[in-house]
Amino acid sequence: MIPSVLPTYSRAPLHFVKGEGSWLVEADGRRFLDLGAGIAVNALGHAHPKLVDALTSQAQNLWHVSNLYEIPQQQALADKLVEHSFADTVFFTNSGTESCELAVKMARKYFYEKGQPERVEIITFDGSFHGRSSAGIAAAGSEKMTKGFGPLLPGFKHLTFGDLDGVTDAISDQTAAVLIEPVQGEGGIRPVPDAELKTLRGICDEAGILLILDEVQCGVGRTGKLFAHEWAGITPDIMMVAKGIGGGFPLGAVLATENAASGMTAGTHGSTYGGNPLACAVGCAVMDEIANEDFLAEVNRKAALLRQKLEGLVASHSEVFDAVRGSGLMLGLKCKVSNLDVVQAAYDAELITVPAGDNVIRLLPALNLTDDDIQEAFARLDRAASQVKTS
Ligand SMILES: Cc1ncc(COP(=O)(O)O)c(C=O)c1O
Repeated sequence: MIPSVLPTYSRAPLHFVKGEGSWLVEADGRRFLDLGAGIAVNALGHAHPKLVDALTSQAQNLWHVSNLYEIPQQQALADKLVEHSFADTVFFTNSGTESCELAVKMARKYFYEKGQPERVEIITFDGSFHGRSSAGIAAAGSEKMTKGFGPLLPGFKHLTFGDLDGVTDAISDQTAAVLIEPVQGEGGIRPVPDAELKTLRGICDEAGILLILDEVQCGVGRTGKLFAHEWAGITPDIMMVAKGIGGGFPLGAVLATENAASGMTAGTHGSTYGGNPLACAVGCAVMDEIANEDFLAEVNRKAALLRQKLEGLVASHSEVFDAVRGSGLMLGLKCKVSNLDVVQAAYDAELITVPAGDNVIRLLPALNLTDDDIQEAFARLDRAASQVKTS
């Protein structure tokens, strides 16, 4: 008999009942150190007092009004995002894949309004992940995500990750945009080198097409800058965010320049819940914490400390681990044994990690984890690696 919850996930038999900072408490009382943060969602850990306060204060007053009316919390969050980014304007969604839908629509509408309706094609890369909507799976294009779901949304051209020459060759008079994650998450923590992002920006400018960045996983302080592309000294035309921006409350956004957004006039897009007062009250609290130099400096300090520990771990367990990679607190351990075995051994050591493509385990901790948490993470990973070696 089919379970009452549609069985699209194979779930670990863990049932958490409480979260505190970087820790999760299992129903049986065990305390797990959480280096997954809900897959880069709980950017400020669990039950951060300022987020709890923002959510509960808003809940006392007003949960929801339609986007037919003005929503001051939404306006405030849009103003903060515009102040701290390249963007001139923001549309709020509830998830990363909804942000992908709008990013694709926005790019196509841009060229439609410019009198080039044939420019519909979006160039994407293998190993990418943009969510599970029809546009998201078509953009990623992998068999794993698309098999059985055809006909797929047309208009995507898939290139090999890192193939910049391929981009130049693939651009035609039908191309609207290039869509790329500055650091691939699901694909196995694969950063695009800064120089390549810069080159890509130049290629897009020269061809007169848009650059869309998917910062759903790597954005909102995760890499030690508010947005990952800042490391490369470039800006996109359109950017997708979600996950960390809501700190655990469902919230996403599409940020864009005035030019890129110029086709999106009244009536061209909408969302019942997008930009809801509860979500935006939390989003404002998240931005107030993360969008400041001191906080980001701490992310970078902790990232360096964690990375140094991981380098040591790889050296002392070279039968298990191949290398550390990633950026800031978006780190991956490329495994020599099955990454799923390592994730399981970490569970046994009461540590949460997340598997990714390319036989990698992901470490995506809360950005405010403590130095003690880092020390403990290292100790538990060390135990897990020893267990994998002996099993
Ligand atoms: C880079 C990236 N884009 C898009 C998505 C989809 O986000 P959501 O699951 O919120 O739809 C994800 C989710 O993991 C992601 O990592």
